[in-house]
Amino acid sequence: MCGIIGYVGAQPATPILLGGLRRLEYRGYDSAGLALQEAGGPLVALRSVGKVARLAEKVKQELTAERQATATVGIAHTRWATHGAPTEANAHPHFSADRKLCLVHNGIIENYRAIRARLEAKGHVFTSETDTEALARLIGEHYQGDLRKAVGQALAQVEGAYGIAVMATAQPGVLVVARKGSPLVLGLGEGETLVASDASALIAHTQRVIYLDDGDIATVTANTVDIRDRHDVLREREVAELGLDLGAVEKGGYEHFMLKEIFEQAESVGNALRGRLDTEHGTAVLAGMGTSPRDLAELQRIVLVGCGTSLHAGQVGEFAFEDLADLNAEVQQAAEFRYRNPLVGSHDLVLAISQSGETADTLAAVREAKEKGALVLGLVNVVGSTIARETGRGVFIHAGPEISVASTKAFTGQVAVLLLMALRLGRGRRLSLERGRVLAAELARLPELIAQVLAQNDAIAAVAGRMAAAEHAFFLGRGPMHPVALEGALKLKEISYVHAEGYHAAEMKHGPIALLTPGTPVVVLANRSPQLDKVWSNAEECKARGARIIAVVTAGSAADTIADDRIVIPECDPLVATIPAAIALQLLAYHVARLRGCPIDQPRNLAKSVTVE
Ligand code: M6R
Repeated sequence: MCGIIGYVGAQPATPILLGGLRRLEYRGYDSAGLALQEAGGPLVALRSVGKVARLAEKVKQELTAERQATATVGIAHTRWATHGAPTEANAHPHFSADRKLCLVHNGIIENYRAIRARLEAKGHVFTSETDTEALARLIGEHYQGDLRKAVGQALAQVEGAYGIAVMATAQPGVLVVARKGSPLVLGLGEGETLVASDASALIAHTQRVIYLDDGDIATVTANTVDIRDRHDVLREREVAELGLDLGAVEKGGYEHFMLKEIFEQAESVGNALRGRLDTEHGTAVLAGMGTSPRDLAELQRIVLVGCGTSLHAGQVGEFAFEDLADLNAEVQQAAEFRYRNPLVGSHDLVLAISQSGETADTLAAVREAKEKGALVLGLVNVVGSTIARETGRGVFIHAGPEISVASTKAFTGQVAVLLLMALRLGRGRRLSLERGRVLAAELARLPELIAQVLAQNDAIAAVAGRMAAAEHAFFLGRGPMHPVALEGALKLKEISYVHAEGYHAAEMKHGPIALLTPGTPVVVLANRSPQLDKVWSNAEECKARGARIIAVVTAGSAADTIADDRIVIPECDPLVATIPAAIALQLLAYHVARLRGCPIDQPRNLAKSVTVE
């Protein structure tokens, strides 16, 4: 949430900062700003409302070419508003009272009101409504020529979450950065150092990175990095290789990142499965689970935590763990987990599911579960992310960077790995070799099954064309397709702004059916499964009230008389079918949003990676 990029080196900073902001724009895009440092001169800042392109325009108009060429140090920010509307005054960077230092901030300073009141009593006149300005002014109050010291003293008074980058006129060529609860990564180049809120902004410059830990304060120059931990002890943090190329964060000819990411799924799910399926023994090999077969056999319960799409993946996992592993599984919304005093202990496995590995609520759940002595694993996409590092063990989904705010390939990667985990746990418990082999073989077919759904892109676009004008839609499913219905509805609402509700198919008649009017689209997940007859009955009930039924059906299943439109997914195991079905609904949402002219990759009010509670 919010993007930070900072640069110190020998090259002109402006294009590097703007380029970094473009890569980070998916983290927040309601306003943007940058500040440049020139030796001996004042800090120059530009801010603008809206997308980074508007800031770039402003830079072109208001910064002389000479200044753009000579300033080689700067910080920049793209904002997702928390305190105060998206206005120029609230955009970052924010300044100290004497304007001799400025900072960009990601996170929330929870006690900013008290800090602001204290500073106002001392005569400070605030120019924004943000929590960030209070921190900038507080650092300014402490500054006596040592920026790191001032940052440390100010942060000692702060409650909340932050990733910050700060610079001061009196210390040219120096950036001080700090994190607690919001990610920051340093990029080490040749004679240049970068800082960013995520690695995608660094790929164009370097592959060598250092992920800061919570509590770290780093002082960076073009050639040096000094990292102190929360106790002010000098730390050597590991230098990691990103192993990503630029293509991973570019559209590669697709109109939107979302479409690219949908189409990457045969490959990304293949990556999630690669080397992990043992079809001969009908099991999965998941080194990251890191626990002895005996410990796993003794597990009493698995609690899956996550938010949004990751929560829905967990809900599919719940069915899989119960069905395949005979394990009592339950899903908990991560934001609620620590506040309900969860009943978890040493015989419970808490599985934190997160694409970004930075979601504040999921991270808080991880910490609470660890505190309670549970075995905690991460199911994460972003290597080096906080949840990946704090869980210390877990399984990566290897989906590659997901740039579109709407999560797609992360969901299918998460579900694929959850099915692998359930298979693995199941085989260590009561799942027969025979069923294990059947399921492993089905999972191995996933890339091919996914390709078959993707091949229907045009047909799905045509279905979308017949529902694009609707203002309301329902998504219904039963069993493991219930969370897929929830996910289908989430995709549609977040990118097309169509009001969409996902329901258990049997729940419709308990209330929501009152909302149906003639023509309301009802998307029904009617794949072949033990509950199929019941699903059709629920669809009939909607049809009888005039709803337009769009059915996701299994290839070769008996022709129905209910559906107005059909989307066909290949025949496969009902748990495995959640993946092709979800992809069909991703395409449906995508095409509806496209037909409605929505900004698909950056939907209004949203941001990727929610690092605030
Ligand atoms: O990075 P995470 O998986 O932890 O993110 C969780 C949610 O914020 C995320 O899935 C969100 O719901 C997406 N916008 C859904 O498309």
